[in-house]
Amino acid sequence: MHTTTTAAQRSIFAILSALVQERAGLHYGSGTEDLFLERVSVRSQDVGFESLLDYYYFLKYDASGAEELDRLVDGLVVNETFFFRELEPLRVLVTELVEPLVRRGERPRIWSAACATGEEPLTLAMLLADAGLLDSVDLIASDISTRALDRARNGNHSKRSLRDVPDDGLTARWIRGEDGRPLVAPRLRAAVDWRRINLCDAAAVRAVGRCNVVLCRNALIYFDDATVVRVVDSISSVLVPGGALFVGISESLLRFATSLQCEERKRVFFYRKPE
Ligand SMILES: C[S@@+](CC[C@H](N)C(=O)[O-])C[C@H]1O[C@@H](n2cnc3c(N)ncnc32)[C@H](O)[C@@H]1O
Repeated sequence: MHTTTTAAQRSIFAILSALVQERAGLHYGSGTEDLFLERVSVRSQDVGFESLLDYYYFLKYDASGAEELDRLVDGLVVNETFFFRELEPLRVLVTELVEPLVRRGERPRIWSAACATGEEPLTLAMLLADAGLLDSVDLIASDISTRALDRARNGNHSKRSLRDVPDDGLTARWIRGEDGRPLVAPRLRAAVDWRRINLCDAAAVRAVGRCNVVLCRNALIYFDDATVVRVVDSISSVLVPGGALFVGISESLLRFATSLQCEERKRVFFYRKPE
């Protein structure tokens, strides 16, 4: 572990962290140098590089550098999530936005855009199934992390993903324990269209197609302001007029100039694309 960052380490931190930020939006500010360099060093040594500068040149200029950069990013992202996290906004999403659309004969498209290991879209699937709406919507869930998505697809959730259970009924109906680990009803997992999408890739975001609701919760905190604006603009472009974006409870878009309007329902805030 480095204790004092030298000038050389600061320089290599600057170029490597800029590469990661350009690729995935992840912003490493001052004070994060040691942690970042330690994690990148472990990865670079694992793939056979003795110097971080050689690793940087490989990432930037080698034909397979982009692929390795994605693997590096996969090891850097924080996939922290759990079932029923920030549950109230999901309930409001179902009762206030999705239900009225289905009653009008529409088939809403809902996208969980940084789903990590999938607990968020699966919680939403439970609420939709309870409301009899699961078969009336399209539910897409994506993340940049292939590792996290593999776990989501396979229903590989840790015991810790059940650390906060505000509604025993949901757990009893949709989750059973297998070898002490939570196993979500296969019907719910099968209802989700799992995809790998980098939110900084505007073309990949556009390819998702029109959405009525997008969840992008507890992911924007890892980006700097300019990236937040770019990602929110991209997401806005796929929202239908009147469509809604939900960010995390501790995140707010109010200080950013976006085209979305903040709205409150039942003490839950979200952001609407003007009609
Ligand atoms: C802390 S988790 C949030 C999971 C879930 N939305 C929640 O609120 O519990 C943040 C997720 O954002 C993903 N992420 C970070 N940068 C991303 C990017 N550029 N594109 C897509 N996902 C990204 C990470 O891989 C991670 O799984």
